[in-house]
Amino acid sequence: MDLIRQLRGPLLVVNFKAYIEATGKQAIELAKSAEKTANDSGVTIIIAPQFTDLKSVSESVDIPVFSQHLDSIKPGAYTGHVLAEAVKSAGAEGSLVNHSERRIGIAEISNCIQRCADSDLYSLVCADTAKAGMEIAKLKPDMIAIEPPDLIGTGISVSKARPDLITSSVREIRTVNTHARVLCGAGITTPDDVEKALQLGTEGVLVASSVVKSRDPRTALSDMADVMIKPSKC
Ligand code: G3P
Repeated sequence: MDLIRQLRGPLLVVNFKAYIEATGKQAIELAKSAEKTANDSGVTIIIAPQFTDLKSVSESVDIPVFSQHLDSIKPGAYTGHVLAEAVKSAGAEGSLVNHSERRIGIAEISNCIQRCADSDLYSLVCADTAKAGMEIAKLKPDMIAIEPPDLIGTGISVSKARPDLITSSVREIRTVNTHARVLCGAGITTPDDVEKALQLGTEGVLVASSVVKSRDPRTALSDMADVMIKPSKC
């Protein structure tokens, strides 16, 4: 079994989505900015480019690269699907599963978690509610991200607008799973949003538009990373 890189400390996950600012050559540029920030700050930054950029991005940086999705198929006659082994061979170290923009059912989630495990890939499974988070936690993913879809892309941070969702999700998840890392995402824009998410009991955040669409992604990332390493006094 390939040794999976240990993902230490709080996690900062940047979802490139299908933003043109994070496509092709620009995906590599953004990946290099993330790598510089990770090296300067010591924060574990994970990036999730599009399928077609996985290999070129993985070959350009030495930080964890995740796929944005994969299918639960096993090798064989499947057209237009994404095979876990192919994601691994492209250099990825994990995959998002069930992102609200790529939602799948609970049975498929379970199968995808198993396919990730079979292929030495971390599974980062998204959940939109505390109840969904608990159901997903029973399936033993490596990480769970609580993301209310209505806040995604709004700039209204889940950690400020829905603190109860985060605390209840962490509580519900921990009743059935004491190992999975719990993160949150949606609307996270400022370092204060990140710090609040950590104060609410998560071990990291998922971000997209506030970094990918920023005029200065490197500064946006390093400002977030700073509070993950050195929380302010308050
Ligand atoms: O996967 C994280 C993403 O859905 C959050 O989007 O633009 O609100 O940071 P955004």
